[in-house]
Amino acid sequence: MIMRGIIKKLEVLDENYLPEKIIGRKKELKAIALNIKPLFYGQPMINMFLHGPTGTGKTSIMRFVIEKISEEDDKIKGVYVNCWMMDTTYAVLMKIAEAFDTAMGLAKLKRSNAELLEYISSKAKRKKIFIVLDEVDKLKNDEVLYLLSREGYGIVMISNYNIALDKLDNRIRSSLSYEEIEFKPYDYDEMLAILKARAEHAFYEGSFPEVYIKVAAKNAGGDARVGIAILKNAALHAERNNKEKVDREDVLYALKVVKGVKLKEQAESLKGKVKIIADIIKELGEADASLIASKYEEHAGEKIHERTLRYYLQELEKKGVIKTKGIKRWKTYFINEELLD
Ligand SMILES: Nc1ncnc2c1ncn2[C@@H]1O[C@H](COP(=O)(O)OP(=O)(O)OP(=O)(O)O)[C@@H](O)[C@H]1O
Ligand SMILES: [Mg+2]
Repeated sequence: MIMRGIIKKLEVLDENYLPEKIIGRKKELKAIALNIKPLFYGQPMINMFLHGPTGTGKTSIMRFVIEKISEEDDKIKGVYVNCWMMDTTYAVLMKIAEAFDTAMGLAKLKRSNAELLEYISSKAKRKKIFIVLDEVDKLKNDEVLYLLSREGYGIVMISNYNIALDKLDNRIRSSLSYEEIEFKPYDYDEMLAILKARAEHAFYEGSFPEVYIKVAAKNAGGDARVGIAILKNAALHAERNNKEKVDREDVLYALKVVKGVKLKEQAESLKGKVKIIADIIKELGEADASLIASKYEEHAGEKIHERTLRYYLQELEKKGVIKTKGIKRWKTYFINEELLD
């Protein structure tokens, strides 16, 4: 007998899958729509800065909005650019130009930023355009923000960091005003709704019991990407073991895999002082704050304030990179053993 399996549509569990409905986020969606609305009347839109932690739906919501608008009105066009991949002015402009490039490859003949800008404005003449700059903090510099806002294009910037735009040049700040929209981590009910909708699409009916969707929602930490990854890993594990239904063992396995990946990503993304501190703790095995402080001075060649150190230690603990024992003066710090291989 051929088994039906569990996963009906694997692509629904993909990182880049765009859901046909954004669950929740009504307030954010409404604010975004209102800010773009003036474009429909030939007026300039209100620029935006969306920020919040990873997996809170920032990218999805803007891709969703771009798609909905293109269905509604072909005079308005949103162009999505991921600045992590396009991190120079030229690359961003090329990406935008290519979005208008009907005769494939024409944009590629343009050599300079000025040429590209002109090409875009000629193509966009009868269209109102807005540009979504995702991961905007990855741009090498802020020139492209200046150029685009000077041309009067609507701009939506996205970042994990609410301070990403703090260091903008004054010249840019004066021409680029924007409204901030914060994306908070999903709470349990929101996460459950997102995961249930996704599961309904991805799995055969009854093959992923709701109790386990709840477990995934509880363990996602407000990050929908994590929640979906738990569903996916559990289902794949169950299929590998020829089960018709996901069970407890599959979910426990998925939790371990996803938590491990997340922890490693967190540890690898550490930079600067935080990284030095984490390395010191790893090297010492276990240490209290004053020992860490003196080692820090040795390694970094500068003193670290007790308050600063405490702040970084808290951050590392929140990220799950380190753990603590004892309280107050007797508190010691050590690396999360799940990260030691
Ligand atoms: N409100 C939502 N409704 C349905 N699916 C969602 C929702 N929010 C997030 N998701 C799903 O969760 C995953 C992560 O979302 P998304 O990539 O939009 O997060 P993000 O905020 O851009 O994260 P990052 O800061 O890491 O880029 C995607 O697969 C997306 O489909
Ligand atoms: Mg994103």
